[in-house]
Amino acid sequence: MSSKQMSDRKVAYLEEVTKVYGEGRNSVRALDGVNLSVLSGEFIAVVGPSGSGKSTLLHILGCMDIPTTGTVEIDGEPVPRTNERKRTELRGEKIGFVFQSFHLLNELTVRENVELPRMFLRRSGEKKLAEIGELIDKVNMPRAVLDRRPSEISGGERQRVAIARALANDPSMLLCDEPTGNLDSANSDSVMKIFDGLNEEGVTIIVVTHNPSVADHASRIVTMRDGKLLGEVGE
Ligand SMILES: Nc1ncnc2c1ncn2[C@@H]1O[C@H](COP(=O)(O)OP(=O)(O)OP(=O)(O)O)[C@@H](O)[C@H]1O
Ligand SMILES: [Mg+2]
Repeated sequence: MSSKQMSDRKVAYLEEVTKVYGEGRNSVRALDGVNLSVLSGEFIAVVGPSGSGKSTLLHILGCMDIPTTGTVEIDGEPVPRTNERKRTELRGEKIGFVFQSFHLLNELTVRENVELPRMFLRRSGEKKLAEIGELIDKVNMPRAVLDRRPSEISGGERQRVAIARALANDPSMLLCDEPTGNLDSANSDSVMKIFDGLNEEGVTIIVVTHNPSVADHASRIVTMRDGKLLGEVGE
């Protein structure tokens, strides 16, 4: 655990967040009064039964969706409810997302996939971004894969490339939804080792998982049930 890297700076702040899908009798309250502060450098695991609201929480943290009521701030900036363009910008600058099923584009090479988030980056010039080769080093892949296509590498390698892509915009937070859900235990371990290393360097990580051995890597475990955050287990 990278306590030396942790600070009091709030990377994300949720206050009384609810999310209701649908209307009337068919509506689903996916989040129900969630309060959460994520500090810079934290490694949080989100656990809980299927349907408890974990992915919804991650989408709202990642500015991919907005709450029905409540407040969301990323790096101290309120996430705008109505200005979708601003929200997309915020996401592009501050968020890295890793999915269970990798979401790489097969028409592109590995290098192009990793570069992709940078096309959406408003270049304020203040961020010094790593070279694509350095990102591939970080996820323990040989640079030779840069010219291959995702279909030409293994599932475990694809997820490592997806992590490199998620890091390309030097995000404030890395959000991962079941990142090891499609991997065998050896590949899961290598992905979790990468997360450990990144967290040691100060990257804030939030991982949704059903797997207790994945949650073991976190410094804080939050449990969801019926759209609510239950008590927390810290280290
Ligand atoms: N786009 C949507 N429209 C309507 N209902 C939705 C939508 N997305 C999620 N839900 C509902 O909201 C609730 C929370 O879903 P969510 O995907 O956040 O759960 P989860 O904890 O990630 O589950 P899992 O572990 O199965 O991935 C569920 O009841 C789900 O059916
Ligand atoms: Mg989910």
